[in-house]
Amino acid sequence: MTTNRKAHALLALAIGCFTWLVSGCGSGGGGTPPPPPSFTISVSPGSVLVAQGATSVPVQLSVIAVNGFQGAVSVSLQGLPAGVTASPAFPVSIGAGSSQSATLTVGNTVARGNYSLTFAGSSGALSGSAPLLLTASGAAVVGPAQDFKKQVIYQIVTDRFFNGDTSNDNPPQSPGMFDASKTNWQMYWGGDLAGIQQQMAYLAGLGITAIWISPPVDNIDVLANLGGTSYAPYHGYWARDMQQIEEHFGDVNNTWAAFDNLVTAAHENGIRVIVDFAANDSNPDDGGEFGALLNKGQAFASYQNDAAPPNNLFHHNPTIMDFNDPFQLQYYTLVDLADLNQENAQVDSYLKSAVAQFMQHGADGFRLDALKHVTWGWEYSLANAAYTNGPTFLYGEWFQGINDPTYHDSVEFSNRSGIALLDFPLASAMRDVFANNGDFHEIDNTITQEDNDFDSPNDLVTFVDSHDIPRLLSVNNNQNRVNEALALQLACRGIPVVLYGDEQYLHNDTNGGNDPYNRVWMSSFSTSTTAYKLVNQMANLRQANPALAYGTSQQRWINSDVYILERQFFDDIVLIAMNKSETAAYNISGLFTALSAGSYSDYLNGLMGGLSIQVSAGTGGNNPVTAFNLPPHTVSVWQSSAAAASPELGSLGPRLAQAGLIATAAGDGFGSSPGTLLVGTTAATVKSWSDSSVTFVVPSVPPGNYNITVQASSGATSNPLPFAVLTGNEIPVTFTVDNVPLVAGASVYLTGNVVELGANVQSAGSAVGPLLAVPGTSSSWFIDASVPAGTQIQFTLFQVLQDGSIVPEGASYSYGVPTAGVGSVSVSW
Ligand code: NOJ
Repeated sequence: MTTNRKAHALLALAIGCFTWLVSGCGSGGGGTPPPPPSFTISVSPGSVLVAQGATSVPVQLSVIAVNGFQGAVSVSLQGLPAGVTASPAFPVSIGAGSSQSATLTVGNTVARGNYSLTFAGSSGALSGSAPLLLTASGAAVVGPAQDFKKQVIYQIVTDRFFNGDTSNDNPPQSPGMFDASKTNWQMYWGGDLAGIQQQMAYLAGLGITAIWISPPVDNIDVLANLGGTSYAPYHGYWARDMQQIEEHFGDVNNTWAAFDNLVTAAHENGIRVIVDFAANDSNPDDGGEFGALLNKGQAFASYQNDAAPPNNLFHHNPTIMDFNDPFQLQYYTLVDLADLNQENAQVDSYLKSAVAQFMQHGADGFRLDALKHVTWGWEYSLANAAYTNGPTFLYGEWFQGINDPTYHDSVEFSNRSGIALLDFPLASAMRDVFANNGDFHEIDNTITQEDNDFDSPNDLVTFVDSHDIPRLLSVNNNQNRVNEALALQLACRGIPVVLYGDEQYLHNDTNGGNDPYNRVWMSSFSTSTTAYKLVNQMANLRQANPALAYGTSQQRWINSDVYILERQFFDDIVLIAMNKSETAAYNISGLFTALSAGSYSDYLNGLMGGLSIQVSAGTGGNNPVTAFNLPPHTVSVWQSSAAAASPELGSLGPRLAQAGLIATAAGDGFGSSPGTLLVGTTAATVKSWSDSSVTFVVPSVPPGNYNITVQASSGATSNPLPFAVLTGNEIPVTFTVDNVPLVAGASVYLTGNVVELGANVQSAGSAVGPLLAVPGTSSSWFIDASVPAGTQIQFTLFQVLQDGSIVPEGASYSYGVPTAGVGSVSVSW
C-alpha cells in the first residue's frame, strides 16, 4: 500500500468508528446496538463488449444483504443509450440474497464506443448501486471488404502492445531474445496476437474499424549481430518463413491458431485485420540467418548459396545509394536486407502463396512493405493475384517526399496497379505544420497536388506518426498538436491510420524518438484521454457521413495558424475548422460553406473547445457563415448528412480487374432493393446489394476502360466512375530489347495490343516504361510488366525524345504469355 492509500484507510476507519460511537450514544448507553441493515449490489462481469446487432453475455446482478437486510430491492438501469435494450426491462425487483440475470442488445445504429451504465437499487430509504461498462463494437464483419474509405485503421507493433500469452515469451527454438525488463529496445518485449485479442474492447471503444499488425510471419530465430549490436526481429520484418506464424506472437509450434483467433474476435466486433507483408526481402544478409528462407519449415532459399542468374532467388547487388535511381531502388539491396528476385518463378510463387494463405486465414488486406523497392511490374501481378483469390484491399509504403524525382513514378504506379499508397507527402506536410509549427498552406498545397495527380485520392492511406519516424510528441511535446493533427487527419480525404499509443500520448525521446524509441510499450489503456475520445467520434462520423469517405476537399479559409477544410459528397458535408496557435484567437469572417442555412453545433461537443456557427443562405453552394472568433488550439467540426434521392457512387474497389472477379461499388442511396450495376452498358451479375454497397462480378466485356454506374430499382442512375477491365489473370513478364539505337536523352517505352500494355497507344502516359538499362550493356533495355497469362500478345517499342516526340521502332512482336508463373522475352530493335 502506498503512503497515501494507508492514510485514506486509517481515515475511513476513524470515520466508521465515529459513526458507530454517535449512534451508540444515542441509544442510551445500554450496550452495542445492532448495525442497521443495508444491501449492496454486485454486477458480474463488470464490463461487456457487444457488437451492433448482437446481445451480451448474461450479466449477473446480485443483491447482497448486509446486517440481516431482508426484503426486495427495486433495481433500475441508468445511462442506457438509445438503441440498446435490456432484458428483462428495468426496473426489476430482486430479493435480498437473490440474483437476476440480464442481457443487453445493441441496435445496429448505436455508435461504437464506451457507455457507463449504473444499476441503481433502492429499498425504502436504503440505496446502493453498481457500475457496468458497455462497449458497443461494430456489427460483425460479413465477408471481406474492398472499400476501406469508411474505415479507420489502427497500427500495432504487435510486440509492443500487450502480452496476452506469457508461454511464448522465450520460446525454445529462439531463446534469449526476450527482455522482460523492457529496457533493451532491440529485444522482444512480450506483446503477441493473443494480447491484441484481449484488448478488443479497448480497440472497439476507440471506434477504429481495422487493425494493421506488424508482420506476423516467422522471423529469424537467432540474434543478428550487426555492427557490434545484437538485434532481435521483434518488428517482424526479418522473415525466415513467410508461410508460418512467429512463435513469439503465436505459439511455439508456429501454428496459425493465435492468428485465427485474433481474426475471429476482430471480425465479431466489426474490426478488419490488415497484415503487413514484406515481399522485397527476407532478413539481413550480414548476420543472424544471413538471408535464408524456409517454406513451411523446409529449406527454400539460401542467399549465401544461391544459383547463378537467371535462376537466382536473390539479387546480389550493392546497397542502394541513390534513392532516385529506379534501377537501384528495385534491384539493389535495401540497407542489408537480402533482396528477393521476384522475377524468379519460385520466388513469385512463394510470395503469392503466402498472400493467398493469409487470405484463407481471414486477412482483410495487406500493407505492402517497402513497395518502392520491389519490382514494380511484379507488384501489379501480385495485386492481381490477390484480387483473383478474392476481395481484399492493398496499400503500400512508397517512402518519399512530394518533390522526389520518383514521386511521379509513385503516382503512375498507384494509378495503374490499383494499389493505394501510404500518403508520405501529406504526412510530411502534417508533421511540418503540427510539430514544427509550419504554415497550413503546406498541407493545403499537398492535398491540392495529390488530388490532381492520383486517380483515387480518397484511397490514399494517411498517417501522421509511424513506427519508422519519431512520434510527433518527440518532436514537439505538445498534446494539443497531437489532437489537432489527429482531428485533421481523420477528417481529411484518405483512409486514416492512427499509430498505437498516440491516443495515450506515449513517446520516448531518446535519440530524438527515432526507431526503436518510437516503438514504445503500450503502458496505458485509458479510455478517457481527449485523443481516445476524438478518434472515437471521428471514426463514428466517418461511418455516418459519406463526405469523409467519398467527398471532395475544399479549403474554405486559411492562414498560417488556421485551416478550415470542407469535405463534400453530394449533399453530405463536413466542415472542420482548427486554430493551432497556442495564444492567438482569429476572427473568421468571409467564410463560406456548402452547409445549408441554419445553425450548427460542434459535432465534437466541445471536446476540443469547438463552437457553434450560423449559416445563412447564399448562392452556388457558397453560403455565408456569420463571423466568429476561433480561440487558440481549438477544433470544431460541423456536419450535415442528407438521405440520397438517387444513387451516389463514391468508390470502386478494386478499380481494375478481369472478367469473373468480384468488385465493390460503394456510395449512398442505392436503395434497399436490387437495381442494376452497369459496366459501360453491360449489366453485371450482382452478388449483394444494399443502400450503400453493391458487390458484383466483372462481366465478360472486351477488355478496356469503362465507366461504371449504379442504377437503383427506381431507374435513377448514379454518377460514373472509371474502371478498367483487364484481359485476364496477370503474370509478370520481363521484356528485354537489345541493340536500341538510343537518341541521346531519350527513354524507351513498351506498348502492345492489350490494355495492360497501354492498348498500343504510343505515349509515355499510356505505355509501360521507361525501360531500365540492362547493367553492363550500352544498348539493352528491359522492364518487368504485368500481362495477361495464356494470351498471344503483340507488342512494340518506341522512344520518347527529350522534346516529347516519338520515335517508333516500327516492328511488332508476337509473344505467347505463359499460362502461369513468370515469363521473359527478348527482342532486338
Ligand atoms: C519499412 C518498414 O516500415 C520498416 O520498419 C522496415 O524496417 C523496412 N521497411 C524493411 O522491411
